[in-house]
Amino acid sequence: MKTAPMDLGDDYTLGTGMAELPIQTAVSDAFGDSYREGLIRAHDLLTTLRESGALSLVDLGTGPGLSLRIGMEILQPGHARGTDTALFDWLDAARRTVGRAAQLTDDDVRNLQVEDGSVHALSGRLILGHLKNHPSALRHWAGKLADKGVMTLTEFAGVSIPPAKMWPENMHDVRNAVIAYYDSYEQAWAADGKDLFAGFALAYDVARGELPDERLVHGEANLTPIPKTLEELAYVFEQRLKGITDTWRKVGRDDRAEAIQAIVTPEILDKMRAVATDWDGVRWIASTVVLQKGESAR
Ligand SMILES: C[S@@+](CC[C@H](N)C(=O)[O-])C[C@H]1O[C@@H](n2cnc3c(N)ncnc32)[C@H](O)[C@@H]1O
Repeated sequence: MKTAPMDLGDDYTLGTGMAELPIQTAVSDAFGDSYREGLIRAHDLLTTLRESGALSLVDLGTGPGLSLRIGMEILQPGHARGTDTALFDWLDAARRTVGRAAQLTDDDVRNLQVEDGSVHALSGRLILGHLKNHPSALRHWAGKLADKGVMTLTEFAGVSIPPAKMWPENMHDVRNAVIAYYDSYEQAWAADGKDLFAGFALAYDVARGELPDERLVHGEANLTPIPKTLEELAYVFEQRLKGITDTWRKVGRDDRAEAIQAIVTPEILDKMRAVATDWDGVRWIASTVVLQKGESAR
């Protein structure tokens, strides 16, 4: 699998105008680099279609609109549409992010209300892992693409944590907490019938030449390691801890909710924050796949 070069320099690069957004969205935009690279590749692959007229873009699982905005900036579509089943919750935020330039709908991404074969670019960031049956969603999307249309998907693909010997002695309990957190996160996801690493599975298949639908004839997979400082991780943990413990309680596993709360304590979070902020040992891995529909389709 191709691994993209890593930029260990400054903060994450954000799209034009993204830097003006508050830090909360910047943190959740950690997958922006990988996504942007995938869309630039999609832009190249869409050249022939662009020559024959304006492009249409559909963003899958738009949420606050960050992925849609990046897609609009890079692909410059004639028509842009974002869809999210929780549109009601996100409408104001999404409007602030994309302005009036895009249509927003509440379609379920597994049942898009657009004509088969009509969409030139389909893009999604952090949507696949939310679906219980992502292979069937991928086939549905392949049906919506026009010939030579391109799908770009960026997903959370895992976390890499350096071996214990690379951590300072007094930080081993922090390392254990990081591992326990991610284990619990993955299990909570699985208890809900979903695959947290759906993006990794897809990228792996695509890298081996196995495309998710026979109408898709070209695929590229790319893994991007994203260094995190412990300070950022502490922030993310704090935000996510509630979601994970709630999920455990929902499935009747209060014991697990309590166990994870006992591991990732406020003291651990303080300890993470106290370490130099340029410590870049833990990496999230983002996967991006770019898939193109063939001329011989249908
Ligand atoms: C992690 S957010 C990603 C937001 C956005 N793509 C971005 O990059 O800023 C995932 C979004 O997918 C939406 N979602 C989950 N399942 C969905 C479905 N079946 N149909 C439509 N939207 C869905 C959620 O409501 C949520 O807003």
